[in-house]
Amino acid sequence: MNANLIIKNASELVTCSGFAAKKGKEMSELGIIADGAVVIERGKILRVGGTAEVMAGLKDSGKDLSGFDTINASGKAVLPGFVDSHTHLVFGGYRADEYAWRLKGDSYMDILQRGGGILSTVRATRSAARQDLVQSGLKRLDSMLAFGVTTVEAKSGYGLDRETEIKQLEVMADLNRLHPLDLVSTFMGAHAVLPEFKGREDAYIDFVLAEVMPEVASRKLAEFCDVFCEKNVFSVAQSRRLLNRAAPSGLKAKLHADEIVQLGGAELAVEIGAVSADHLLHVSDDGIRAMAGAGVVATLLPATAFSLREPYARGRFMIDAGCAVALATDFNPGSCFCESIPLIAALAALYMDLTPEEIVTALTINGAAALGRAQVVGSIDPGKQGDVVMLEHPSYRFIPYHIGVSTVEKVIKNGNLVFDKERGGHPRC
Ligand code: NIG
Ligand code: FE
Repeated sequence: MNANLIIKNASELVTCSGFAAKKGKEMSELGIIADGAVVIERGKILRVGGTAEVMAGLKDSGKDLSGFDTINASGKAVLPGFVDSHTHLVFGGYRADEYAWRLKGDSYMDILQRGGGILSTVRATRSAARQDLVQSGLKRLDSMLAFGVTTVEAKSGYGLDRETEIKQLEVMADLNRLHPLDLVSTFMGAHAVLPEFKGREDAYIDFVLAEVMPEVASRKLAEFCDVFCEKNVFSVAQSRRLLNRAAPSGLKAKLHADEIVQLGGAELAVEIGAVSADHLLHVSDDGIRAMAGAGVVATLLPATAFSLREPYARGRFMIDAGCAVALATDFNPGSCFCESIPLIAALAALYMDLTPEEIVTALTINGAAALGRAQVVGSIDPGKQGDVVMLEHPSYRFIPYHIGVSTVEKVIKNGNLVFDKERGGHPRC
């Protein structure tokens, strides 16, 4: 396939232009170009602007255009590829039984406390063949790609032993190599407390630091380290100890913070200079203001609140307080078995009071910033990767409006057409 591509006549070219997280009011700035065009050469964005101006510029430059494919995006909106900056997509087994128990009133944390939940996925992931994890991972990435996702984060944390944590991270490296999507790996060895470590959580952190993290770091199997900082899981002190040791190993910090109760996870994220604090359903006002001041990206996961029937994170308040908010799916087999970007967008609009403009920013440049990738993806700017989606509709406003249904018609990854609804899905297959 050809990585030289011209997309022209887009009714709206939504550039999301920028190279860093957008905070507060900046989240409303989408940098829209009417009748826009984008030129991608050898996988990288070369020119962006109005169609007439871009085409004239190409002509004047004398560039040989015979090696370029052209897509006419007339009547369609074109945006940066979406960045899903929080998922747990590599796992064995499913938890449909647990979902049915939750519908009858069992709580997520009670199921975990009695050895189910994350611990049930740990058992299934330990016994899963590596090849099966790769195959299921590829299918899940195909589904995400069809929703317009071009960069995705994935966490380990379903091993909780050295061998399986490493196996999960190696599977992620395989997926990154085998699939057009870019996959960013996060080491989350501190995801749950095994029964044998109950009451000895510090000993488990010692084990992670001594036995697992050094190999993850030396083999560069992950870019980030995450921890479930939560009541009855890992305390603020234990999370601090883990993440402070991760930094010198080259692993940047993320936290599952204030998800079930208000524990001070956001404040810890600020204290240690984490890239993002995620979930934040119960974050304090002070925590929000501190994140805004420190530039910690607040990654909100509305489908998890929806699935757990918990209150939504206070996205409106966070943006008004000057935070950079990102939106992600949290795709996992338990708390949120959902990779639907349009559902995330609709929930953010309806229950977090985010505007369509803020939602687009949260799914693009701010998602990229939550992965330390705002210089390379997340916007349509010259020099960035040619990762672009084209909608069936003329405006980005259709993303939250068409509830739960994808409006993505084409996905371009590094200048290659990798998904086309009109051609029945994935032309790469
Ligand atoms: O982000 N809260 C902890 N971790 C995941 C859920 C993982 C699971 O239930 O398997 C989350 O919600
Ligand atoms: Fe999560």
